[in-house]
Amino acid sequence: MLLHIPGVLDRDQLARIRSALDGAEWVDGRQTVGAQGAQVKRNLQLAEDSPLRRELGAMVLAVLARNPLYFAAALPLRTLPPRFNRYEGGGTYGAHVDGAVMALPPDGADAAHALPGQAGYVRSDLSCTLFLSEPEEYDGGGLVVDDTYGEHEVKLPAGDLILYPSSSLHRVEPVTRGARIASFFWIQSMVRDLEKRRLLYQLDTSIQALSAPGAGLPSDSRDALVGLTGIYHNLLRRWAET
Ligand code: NI
Repeated sequence: MLLHIPGVLDRDQLARIRSALDGAEWVDGRQTVGAQGAQVKRNLQLAEDSPLRRELGAMVLAVLARNPLYFAAALPLRTLPPRFNRYEGGGTYGAHVDGAVMALPPDGADAAHALPGQAGYVRSDLSCTLFLSEPEEYDGGGLVVDDTYGEHEVKLPAGDLILYPSSSLHRVEPVTRGARIASFFWIQSMVRDLEKRRLLYQLDTSIQALSAPGAGLPSDSRDALVGLTGIYHNLLRRWAET
């Protein structure tokens, strides 16, 4: 399931991040991949130990923590601190599947979420790209995700986010004009299985739609809505690993 979440960042948040990144120092993006990834990756990133990366990453995660659609779709358990990248001058990232298990940085704020005895690892269930450049600022640079239903090219407005399965083959097309700036990170979900997560998301969003003010649900249907909500929670109780 590819899920587009629009308007994750408002105009002010976006402007703050963009202006901070305008003066940033970028390093070769190959520093954070293995030998195979390095053969196909041509982009720039904020350095792993950059204070700016930490500051902006924490800001992105704080915004997402208040986003109900993101929570419903990802059911996040642990999240890698976000990274920031820049593609320009033909920059590209050829077809690859993201690493399955990634180490949390020892001093990362998220290390607090690692359980004792499982210190410091995140299984990548979901990959996330938060677009920080407007589509008209650059040519190329589409994120192409090959999922069960074929290839999808994604190029979203600045401030919008795409969630996609980390198990999918994906690539970033070469940027032939301008610069494509984005934040990206990985999530370990409480619900590992993609199909189970999809069912929970569909049930949750359907219940939300029925519960919304103005949904016009007859008063004698309230018990049924309570029943559906119970089913959601009881499925999540069966499937969640925390
Ligand atoms: Ni990737």
